Amino acid sequence: MNFEFASRIERVEPSATLAISNKASELEANGVDVVDLSVGEPDFPTPQNVVEAGKDAMDAGHTGYTPSNGIPELREAIAARLREGGIDAIDEEIIVTPGGKQALYEAFQVLIDDGDEVVLLDPAWVSYEAMSRLAGGSLTRVDLEPYSFQLEPGLDDLEAAVSEETELLVINSPSNPTGAVYTDAALEGVRDLAVEYDITVVSDEIYDKITYGVEQTSLASLSGMGDRTITINGFSKAYSMTGWRLGYVHAPSALIDQAAKLHSHSVSCAVNFVQRAGVEAIENTDDAVVEMRDAFRERRDMLAELFESHDVDVPIGDGVCHWTSMNCRCPQPFANIIMMQVSRSFILRKKPQ
Ligand SMILES: Cc1ncc(COP(=O)(O)O)c(C=O)c1O
Repeated sequence: MNFEFASRIERVEPSATLAISNKASELEANGVDVVDLSVGEPDFPTPQNVVEAGKDAMDAGHTGYTPSNGIPELREAIAARLREGGIDAIDEEIIVTPGGKQALYEAFQVLIDDGDEVVLLDPAWVSYEAMSRLAGGSLTRVDLEPYSFQLEPGLDDLEAAVSEETELLVINSPSNPTGAVYTDAALEGVRDLAVEYDITVVSDEIYDKITYGVEQTSLASLSGMGDRTITINGFSKAYSMTGWRLGYVHAPSALIDQAAKLHSHSVSCAVNFVQRAGVEAIENTDDAVVEMRDAFRERRDMLAELFESHDVDVPIGDGVCHWTSMNCRCPQPFANIIMMQVSRSFILRKKPQ
């Protein structure tokens, strides 16, 4: 049969990250010693208290559907966490999703029409482009490589890129893949542009807990941003829960009402017992998060020194940055290093002689 595929699916390629990961597995199967830095997956087990909470929830029979937007306990716990970060959040403004990816997908689907402009800061995580294309968006990119991947010195470039036509700007701090944590001045610059040109901003904060010596600021906590920011977060990275598939979106209720339609007609709800484990993760797992973060930092520092000693110039971010940390215990650091998703810009380059 000759299928006539929808044009939206023809606009995207399979995930480059997964292609690299598959290649690494293939090399490993052939006995090659590979350090795979493709997918951003912490190599720690999920903290035991969270695992127990998931098991207890299953034993207690929490295996059916939940309210589509999530169980009240988890939405309240998430709202409380967001308030600690300065966001004026209430549980009605939250949808619990199967992973942060689904939360992002819903945001793009709800806001982007054919031809709408989406602005990305490059290098950007690969799925933003795919999600934008699936929704019909037209991409404008602002390259932060000339500014060592920091946004503050790149604000003029961002200003030149946005206009009244811009529908959505995506901010990801700490950034995947660069690890850059944007300064408050940079975020205030984003706020000023967003207000001036009436732009909605997606703030993907999935790496907020994994910063080294600096604090990440939530964009929605800035005055003027509460009613135009879609905050995305999840449990995969901070709590080492990648396979549990748990995330969320926080946004003004008018937007949440629209996303809730898509959510209820697609995934129905996030997994019941996983949501209950999510409450435990938020409320009782801070120490484990700090332990993992400190281990990632040690690995980053070790690899940064190794690159330096081999004359390789690597801008070091203050946040997690996959090539230096999460899934790399690195017994032989230079055995085979597979760089991850360096999308358009190339982070690693030989120092000029
Ligand atoms: C920048 C960024 N945002 C969102 C996600 C989505 O993560 P998850 O769907 O596991 O919550 C990822 C995963 O790699 C990511 O790197």
